[in-house]
Amino acid sequence: MTTTLSLIRPDDWHLHLRDGDALRAVLPHTARQFARAIVMPNLKPPVTTTALALDYRRRILDALPIEGPGADFEPLMTLYLTDRTPPDEMRRACEAGIVALKLYPAGATTNSDAGVTDIRKTYKTLEAMQREGLLLLVHGEVTDAEIDLFDREAVFIDRVLQPLRRDFPGLKIVFEHITTREAAQYVAAGDARLAATITAHHLLFNRNAIFLGGLRPHYYCLPVLKREEHRLALVAAATSGSPKFFLGTDSAPHAAVLKEHAAACAGCYTALSALELYAQAFESAGALDKLESFASFHGADFYGLPRNRGRITLRRQPWTLPESLPFGAQQLKPLCGGETLNWKLESAA
Ligand code: NCD
Ligand code: ZN
Repeated sequence: MTTTLSLIRPDDWHLHLRDGDALRAVLPHTARQFARAIVMPNLKPPVTTTALALDYRRRILDALPIEGPGADFEPLMTLYLTDRTPPDEMRRACEAGIVALKLYPAGATTNSDAGVTDIRKTYKTLEAMQREGLLLLVHGEVTDAEIDLFDREAVFIDRVLQPLRRDFPGLKIVFEHITTREAAQYVAAGDARLAATITAHHLLFNRNAIFLGGLRPHYYCLPVLKREEHRLALVAAATSGSPKFFLGTDSAPHAAVLKEHAAACAGCYTALSALELYAQAFESAGALDKLESFASFHGADFYGLPRNRGRITLRRQPWTLPESLPFGAQQLKPLCGGETLNWKLESAA
């Protein structure tokens, strides 16, 4: 039986780092595992301009350890796309090293009020992005009240993604945190400019987890967990070896009091043990040999960035996750807190 796994240091292609005390609490967890991460721009207020993104990047770098594991972590910055993002901002963004814009349909998820109300309003900006080589990252759910919450991703493909890809064939698009068989099939069948991230929690759990023995808000995220058949389709996609699928945790910390709340916030905190959770999922699928390309190669290749050089080691060593962590003056409950995982991250080199 395999007892150690050595991987090229991976990257997290979808991450929420927040700001201030929350940022300082969670950043070390990501930085000790991952060389880089795509940092989501849904702060309050959202990161809508190059200047705001550069300020945010500076705050992230200032929150890193000065030396030791994680000191060399590189945040990859994104802008929050709105109905009014000026096309000429795209040149500035590109020159400043911003890699992508994030499309949140207005009202789709946490801090998405300033999101896009109609994709056609962004067409001039999308043209500029296509010209500059900036990627478009999409939260792929429609928000219409008449569409069942569990169907919102599949409907998004037909109503938004298909026309978008037809109108912007040169734009690279990442369909973020896919949760359905429809999305996995759509991405697999698409051309080389379409890819998807998959979270660890959507590989490990189906929607039963939200209701097991009582309402379990720590399993509530958006897009919401789906039926078992969808989980199986995601596992098949992630372990297929296809370069169109790669790691993106969507780790989204919220204080425990806001998760254990009458209107619980959406988001699972997985950054503490992200790689170990993915290893668990890949092992269950008998596909540990596919973990490295999913975690360390496909994302970098799609973004056109160099692959990392250092390595990390996972050891088969059962360990129990803490139930709670300090989060500024509050507490943060990691997903699977109190539960035992098979693999433990050993060292970063
Ligand atoms: C994210 C958050 O809390 O910022 N929540 C989530 O459930 N994934 C937002 C998002 O990515 O949808
Ligand atoms: Zn997210």
